[in-house]
Amino acid sequence: MEHPATTAPLVRPAIEQDIAAVAAIYGQHVRDGTASFETDPPSVAEMLRRHAQLVAHDYPYLVAEAGGQVLGYAYAGPYRPRPAYRETVENSVYLRPEAAGRGFGTRLLEALIVACADVGFRQMVAVVGNSGNLASIRLHERLGFRLVGVLRSVGFKHGRWLDTVLLQRSLGAGDAAPPDRPSNDRPPGERSPDRAG
Ligand SMILES: CC(C)(COP(=O)(O)OP(=O)(O)OC[C@H]1O[C@@H](n2cnc3c(N)ncnc32)[C@H](O)[C@@H]1OP(=O)(O)O)[C@@H](O)C(=O)NCCC(=O)NCCS
Repeated sequence: MEHPATTAPLVRPAIEQDIAAVAAIYGQHVRDGTASFETDPPSVAEMLRRHAQLVAHDYPYLVAEAGGQVLGYAYAGPYRPRPAYRETVENSVYLRPEAAGRGFGTRLLEALIVACADVGFRQMVAVVGNSGNLASIRLHERLGFRLVGVLRSVGFKHGRWLDTVLLQRSLGAGDAAPPDRPSNDRPPGERSPDRAG
C-alpha cells in the first residue's frame, strides 16, 4: 500500500465518495485485528448503507484526509436502540495502519466529540475491542474519557477470548440539564456492528 501523506490531515464530514476507502480501512481491521468484533469485512455497499443511515439521523461521520487519501475515519452511532438511550452515542475510530501513532486518531476523535456536542448528544461511550488495545484506551483517556469497566472474555476471535473496555465522557451540558429536543425528535435507529460492543 502506498505510504500515506505526511502533511497534517484535513478532518471533514465523510461523503459517499469516501466510503470505498473507509470500507478498505475497516475491512483490514476486521480481517486482521480485534478492535472490531465483526469477522467478515462488510462490502462497500453495506458501508454506504450504514453511512447513509447514520447521517440521516444526524450522527456525525468524519474522515481525515491528506494528499487526496483518506487516512482514517470516525463516526458516532446509537449506543443502544431503545428510545431512552437516544442522547447517548457510541463512537468508532479507525486509521490506516500506516497512519497510526501520529496524532490523527486524536484529531478525528476530538472533532467527533465537538460535532456530537453540537448536535446535542450528551454522553459518548467507547466500547474498545480488547484490553490490549492501548492506543485506543490512551486515545480516549487523553480526550477526557474515564474508564467505566472491563467486560471479560465477551468475544472470541482469531482463536482467543477478548474483553471489551468501556469508557465514557459527557458532551455539552451532560446530565446537568434535560435533553435539548423533545423525546420523539430522534429515533435512535439500528446499531452499526462496526464497534466491538
Ligand atoms: C486507536 C487509534 C484510532 C488511535 O489513533 P492514533 O492516531 O494511533 O493515536 P494518537 O497518535 O492520536 O495517540 C493517542 C494516544 O495513544 C497513545 N498511543 C498511540 N499508539 C499507541 C500504542 N501503539 N501503544 C500505546 N499507546 C499508544 C499515544 O501516545 C497517545 O497517548 P498520549 O497522549 O498519552 O501520548 C489507531 O491506532 C487505530 O486506528 N487503531 C486500530 C483500530 C482501533 O483500535 N480503533 C479503535 C476502536 S475502539
